[in-house]
Amino acid sequence: MRFLLFVGASNTLAEFEVGAQIKDARLIQDNIYIFESDSEVDAQNTVSRLGCSIKLAKELPGVAAQNESIADLITHKNFSITSINDFSISPKINQDVKNLLERGRFIVPKDQFGLSPILLRKHKIDEFFLDSQKDEVWQTIWVHDFEHWIKKDRHMPFANAKAGILPPKIARSMVNLVPLDPAGKLLVDPFCGSGRVLVEAAELGYLVGGADISAQQVRETQANLSSLGFEVQSDVLDATHLSEKFHEVDVIVTEPFLGKPNLRPDQIKYLIPGLQKLYLGCLKDWLKVLKAHGYVIMVFPWFEVGKQVYKTSSVIDGKLELSYNFHKRGILYSRPGADVKREIVILQKK
Ligand SMILES: C[S@@+](CC[C@H](N)C(=O)[O-])C[C@H]1O[C@@H](n2cnc3c(N)ncnc32)[C@H](O)[C@@H]1O
Repeated sequence: MRFLLFVGASNTLAEFEVGAQIKDARLIQDNIYIFESDSEVDAQNTVSRLGCSIKLAKELPGVAAQNESIADLITHKNFSITSINDFSISPKINQDVKNLLERGRFIVPKDQFGLSPILLRKHKIDEFFLDSQKDEVWQTIWVHDFEHWIKKDRHMPFANAKAGILPPKIARSMVNLVPLDPAGKLLVDPFCGSGRVLVEAAELGYLVGGADISAQQVRETQANLSSLGFEVQSDVLDATHLSEKFHEVDVIVTEPFLGKPNLRPDQIKYLIPGLQKLYLGCLKDWLKVLKAHGYVIMVFPWFEVGKQVYKTSSVIDGKLELSYNFHKRGILYSRPGADVKREIVILQKK
């Protein structure tokens, strides 16, 4: 069976998450992927684990991309049809299909993505996507649980959705870059903050551990994880000394200390060597923490000063190449207008 997956825009992070988690998924338009799965249940299970997924539609094989065929499929009072090969004809298609029905109300989509998950979850709406060129019809069968994501962003004991903190969906996508089955594997975040990465890892089925230099942050991580019913092994530690408490770790996923926010350009130049020293110290110590072939998924900040871009990830070039394989670099995530961009790097201990 074939499915369309609609994903949130996040620079290149979604592309790598989909690539790691769905075999042979192919981008057909901005933020829309096509993939095959044996069953609807399998497809839903897969996409509901992703951070980037917003909506899933299944192909209706044998249904012609014509108004009459679609009208026959409408069972609820409300419907919405989006033409994905030529979006501009969507309003007319909706009106023409309505004219074929005795009763029914249509909602015109705003763009190729069709209706918002909020609308689709709150009301019973039959939503279809048409490609009249390829004669294909697709029906929405799943939308992401936005209420659960909002809860994790804003309503955990220490959610504190202030700027700079990793959004839960981005944390989820980062964890999904790990090419492992989470069952029974230990994932540690040595800069755990309030535990965003660890919440996502625990929801995916990892055993989780966290450390932070701040005792308050470690308490926040504990409280956030236990509010969702998860256990976490946690310690107050400098991340360059993680090996004092953690061993036999399968994966480290972390957004480390990125420097204080809103620095002046002249201050950034002084910040970078300090950050690089910290990251290098960590990556050396984590060789003692990780199992053989264990993974590190880590954010390295990029700072823009005028036209110059300073990439802190340059610190991994050189001696570290003897100890780690560099699987991917340059996976990007940044909020629009943010002064710091995040480059995510995937390393594997040799
Ligand atoms: C960017 S925040 C991580 C935020 C976390 N991903 C979250 O969303 O909650 C960085 C964290 O690193 C901690 N930190 C700073 N220097 C550290 C060090 N040397 N070792 C361990 N943690 C450190 C800070 O206390 C802060 O909680």
